[in-house]
Amino acid sequence: MRIDRFLTGITTSGTPHLGNYVGSIRPSVQASLRPGVQSFYFLADYHALIKVGDPARIQRSTLEIAASWLACGLNPDKVVFYRQSDIPEIPELTWLLSCVLGKGVLNRAHAYKAAVDKNTAAGTDPDADVNVGLFMYPVLMGADILMFNAHQVPVGRDQVQHIEMARDMAASFNHRYGEHFVAPEAAIDDFVATLPGLDGRKMSKSYDNTIALFAPRAQLQKLINSIVTDSKAPGEPKAIEGSALFQIYQAFATADETRALQQAYANGIAWGDAKAMVFERIDREMAPMRAAYEALLADPAKIEAILDAGAAKARAIATPFMTKLRHAVGLRDLRAQASANVKAAKMALPLFKQYREKDGQFYFKLQDADGKLLLQSAAYASPKDAAQSIGALQQQGAVALIDLGAQVALAEGASSADVDLALLALREAKAQAKSDKSAA
Ligand code: TRP
Repeated sequence: MRIDRFLTGITTSGTPHLGNYVGSIRPSVQASLRPGVQSFYFLADYHALIKVGDPARIQRSTLEIAASWLACGLNPDKVVFYRQSDIPEIPELTWLLSCVLGKGVLNRAHAYKAAVDKNTAAGTDPDADVNVGLFMYPVLMGADILMFNAHQVPVGRDQVQHIEMARDMAASFNHRYGEHFVAPEAAIDDFVATLPGLDGRKMSKSYDNTIALFAPRAQLQKLINSIVTDSKAPGEPKAIEGSALFQIYQAFATADETRALQQAYANGIAWGDAKAMVFERIDREMAPMRAAYEALLADPAKIEAILDAGAAKARAIATPFMTKLRHAVGLRDLRAQASANVKAAKMALPLFKQYREKDGQFYFKLQDADGKLLLQSAAYASPKDAAQSIGALQQQGAVALIDLGAQVALAEGASSADVDLALLALREAKAQAKSDKSAA
């Protein structure tokens, strides 16, 4: 079974709203809980710098977005959750990729083209007010994705072109330097709702029609009361088609609840009463998460610690991979022979040790790269049985420990996150050894 690797970034330029929750946070958190997937979520703060020149806002948004995702149930022990700017290998890879990508490809990027078209229409210089960061945006995004060899990238339709460019960069790099990158795919979920905003258009910061995800209860009520409706009086039947209020309700309610509101519309519910229903329903879902959010906002040190741990997991992959990429392009130790099969600097790796005890039974243990014990098995009658448990761990990660029960125990002081980290590093080393072979 191939473990699908999902990766997505969230630009830290604003405050999350209900549209982000329904369209991105909620489905991503659910997806991250599925077995057989490995998820990477990161705060794209380098990307935010392209648009936001206010340092306080960058910091605030990073805090709010991190707290939002955690409050909505993202489990940092199960996923790799990190901040882009904590991974210096990403800007480094951006440079390598920019040297294999044609400038013409970037000229055609939607965001850049839109800026140029606007300037041209206004009769100004085509590149007026365009920073190089905006132009390079797709390369930085390609580095985000290729750094971790993600297979699937959940994004909105507006980002599909960026994923195609990432494939383009992967292919050009591989063509010149050997197979290092997998071609990522955009994962677009057509079942995910886009939420209308207060004025009925798509909820979006650029329309200024949003409802902040964790607006306090009173403010949430006020905002919901301001959602546009038609002017039908109480008692008059109301149409659900085109009703922003109805669509917003639907994004939170069960099928039964939705049918009940549909019936109430047909029966002529007063808009004020309908709004009260929608408010109570959303508030019921948000209240516990809002409490968690407020607690997190009040404890930034906790979020820092979570992001630090995430960066360590991410760099356990990025650092050795970057060493290999530097070598591949010729940024090499001068003492090394200029030959294709000089091995990249040998990194210490975690280790599964299988062995036999004096009792004649078979055992295994897992150590991290520093030799610290992470897992210890009980006795197996045959080495094949031990290998099977190791296989389950390699395939599923630390969740396999649940099925393995008392047969395999976490060592004292080790966590399942440590185990996942070690397994990740092993998988990565294996994939790299394979690509080294095919490149040689
Ligand atoms: N460009 C994405 C957006 O605006 C954010 C982003 C940055 C991203 N890097 C990424 C998304 C890598 C997916 C993968 O939504």
